[in-house]
Amino acid sequence: MKAVRIHAYGGQEVLTLEDAPMPQPGEKDVLVRVVASAINPVDWKIRAGYLKDMLPYSFPLILGWDISGVIEAVGSGVTKFKPGDAVYSRPNILRDGGYAEFIAIDENEVALKPKTITHASAASLPLAGITAWDVLVKTAAIKAGDRVLIHAGSGGVGSLAVQLAKAFGAHVVATTSTKNIPLVKSLGADQVIDYRTQEFDHVVHGMDIVFDTIGGEVQEKSWASLKEGGILVSVVSPPAAEKAAAHSARGAFVFIQPDAAVLTELAALVDAGKIRPIIAAEFALEDIVKAHALSESGRADGKIVLHIGKP
Ligand SMILES: NC(=O)c1ccc[n+]([C@@H]2O[C@H](COP(=O)([O-])OP(=O)(O)OC[C@H]3O[C@@H](n4cnc5c(N)ncnc54)[C@H](OP(=O)(O)O)[C@@H]3O)[C@@H](O)[C@H]2O)c1
Repeated sequence: MKAVRIHAYGGQEVLTLEDAPMPQPGEKDVLVRVVASAINPVDWKIRAGYLKDMLPYSFPLILGWDISGVIEAVGSGVTKFKPGDAVYSRPNILRDGGYAEFIAIDENEVALKPKTITHASAASLPLAGITAWDVLVKTAAIKAGDRVLIHAGSGGVGSLAVQLAKAFGAHVVATTSTKNIPLVKSLGADQVIDYRTQEFDHVVHGMDIVFDTIGGEVQEKSWASLKEGGILVSVVSPPAAEKAAAHSARGAFVFIQPDAAVLTELAALVDAGKIRPIIAAEFALEDIVKAHALSESGRADGKIVLHIGKP
């Protein structure tokens, strides 16, 4: 099969389009013919070797842990799916990913894709959507009326988090740069802060929840925006316990895992018209280097999709 693999950690030049062996599905695996995949920052962080102490890989490795496609075959122990099912997944990050024509995935990491959107749009949802859900719903226990600050409302994660928080009835404040203000407003944000012209910590106070997708100085300044007893949840770096205590607040770090139950919830929200994927750019598998370059620029407004197979 055709796949983009890496044979060593490195820059964009290690991304190699080549023939790779077909994945061999295990007893509990489904073999998915990939129609579309998506890029996430974790892809180039892994490619560059930044996460090698945390995630031990051997080479060659297929990156890309967001897919939408059609089940081609199932292992002997699979009970939930059958060939022909249209599915989407954020598969186990320790196995080969989805920059490939086929991928083997444990059936417990797969859900039926939303019916009302294309495979390309569906492929953009799993990783960012599970992240938004884990932070807002599972970790921060968001509820109607909560005041939520979401950093990078135009990013892959942020563009879904804004919509999810609105779907839960929250009051949403989001940061972005000048060019993306109309996009973030269109997602339903009640207030949009242009981080290039305004210091968010000077104008945003009393938040129940802060969702940190940036880390560093942005995380440090975020404590000032929380109310007493509020929670700062980061997906970039663990907030320091002493900082949380000093602000009479809570801090948490989330690193997501595959979650088919959440994918089913997200598919229902999409099919009910409450969440729409925001696509920044679409590429063919052959253009993987351009796709990584856009993600690494940190400027993508929404998700970056890779078209791989026929729908
Ligand atoms: N721990 C986990 O499980 C987990 C899961 C998912 C993601 N993550 C991490 O979360 C981070 C965000 O992921 P992502 O996929 O959303 O990234 P992304 O889509 O690449 O983010 C790009 C967006 O960030 C915005 N941005 C950049 N600097 C900003 C700032 N200072 N303030 C506000 N917005 C800013 C950009 O808007 P402008 O162009 O307008 O500046 C752009 O729209 C990454 O570091 C990723 O690795 C972690």
